[in-house]
Amino acid sequence: MQTTPPSPDGADILCEILAVNEALSGLKDLDAILDRILTESRRIARADAGTVYLVEDGRLRFGYVHNDTLIGQGKVTKDVYADFTLPMDSTSIVGHVAATGRALDIADAYAMAPDAPVAFNPAFDRKTGYHTTSMLTLPVITSQGAVSGVIQLINAKDDAGRPVPFGPQARTLLPLLATMASVAIERAIMTRELILRMMQMAELRDPSETGAHVTRVGSYAAEVYHRYAQMAGTDERELKKTKDLIRVAAMLHDVGKVGISDKILKKPARLDPEEFAVMRMHTVYGARLFQNSTSELDAMSGSIALNHHEKWNGTGYPGRLDGLAPAQAPGPPKAGTEIPLEARIVALADVFDALGSRRSYKPPWPDEKILALLREERGAHFDPDVVDAFLDIFEVIAAIRDKYTEDQPAPDAPEGPAG
Ligand SMILES: [Fe+2]
Ligand SMILES: [Fe+2]
Repeated sequence: MQTTPPSPDGADILCEILAVNEALSGLKDLDAILDRILTESRRIARADAGTVYLVEDGRLRFGYVHNDTLIGQGKVTKDVYADFTLPMDSTSIVGHVAATGRALDIADAYAMAPDAPVAFNPAFDRKTGYHTTSMLTLPVITSQGAVSGVIQLINAKDDAGRPVPFGPQARTLLPLLATMASVAIERAIMTRELILRMMQMAELRDPSETGAHVTRVGSYAAEVYHRYAQMAGTDERELKKTKDLIRVAAMLHDVGKVGISDKILKKPARLDPEEFAVMRMHTVYGARLFQNSTSELDAMSGSIALNHHEKWNGTGYPGRLDGLAPAQAPGPPKAGTEIPLEARIVALADVFDALGSRRSYKPPWPDEKILALLREERGAHFDPDVVDAFLDIFEVIAAIRDKYTEDQPAPDAPEGPAG
């Protein structure tokens, strides 16, 4: 016989809420925040799986997913880069919750009352072999009262791991969590938009540095770091914190190009040695934007801006510097682990993306040609362990590339997920 856990008392609720708030407030990046929202809400509700959607242009856009049964815990997966939208109406459970702004608690998706306001779509279960039982779907509501997203949790589990209906703990705490999530999501969207706007300034100078390029480089860097850190046995806390920072910081790798003149940036021919020396300064200009700061994000952004053109074998630039003061002659290039890990990762992500993109002087390279070059440069231009981590998750890299193409709207949901 199954026992219902007791309702949480006031002190429990307060402790939980403080813990969740603490977990969310330290994060900068939107994906990291959505990931953490799912981690915390699944922990509280003991749910096997969960998905977050965000309202965008009047539709629900897929944001992030966890599924212990299908994906596993803490794995690098392409599933989090799925790209589809759903209408905000009663054709789906998440759409219904977004449209009405009211939570929906379903004990068994396959035994819903025939007169329920919305029906369960079993297409996702059929396609994947997953079995959805209980579902708790909550609106994320902003302080202005607008629905900004939906959190859907699937299959609450009992001590033996069997699916059970969601308990009082989940029903009491999750609406509070959704309120905190709304604040964190809003903040993260603002950060991302601010960064994209900063990069648009650099893009005015260098049209190859588009918003899509920097978004891809940020995501490649985050996932390659994740795999690298797993291979290196980095502890989970450190991994999550750095993954959050590196995605945002990597997006700013070329922000120093705002300091380079159009004459050089847009020159249709090869740069002469003097011009190239000026061009190389974009690394130092970028790093200067972040100096004298105590924030970890600024420190990492500066480190990436400065070092993303250094090469593992010591043939890159700008080379060792004594501070960032103007008009000093740089020392010899950095090499090996003297180059910070985050910059070794962004070096690969940036080159990979440039090779696969169209440029005025070349068509996009096919994957085989790019991968052959990366293998060739393993231990030369690039850190061999970073190349290994990259190749190991190439499927995820390809999903990121498909998701963040130059200005294309997300397609409709393929078959409809569980929601
Ligand atoms: Fe650069
Ligand atoms: Fe770039």
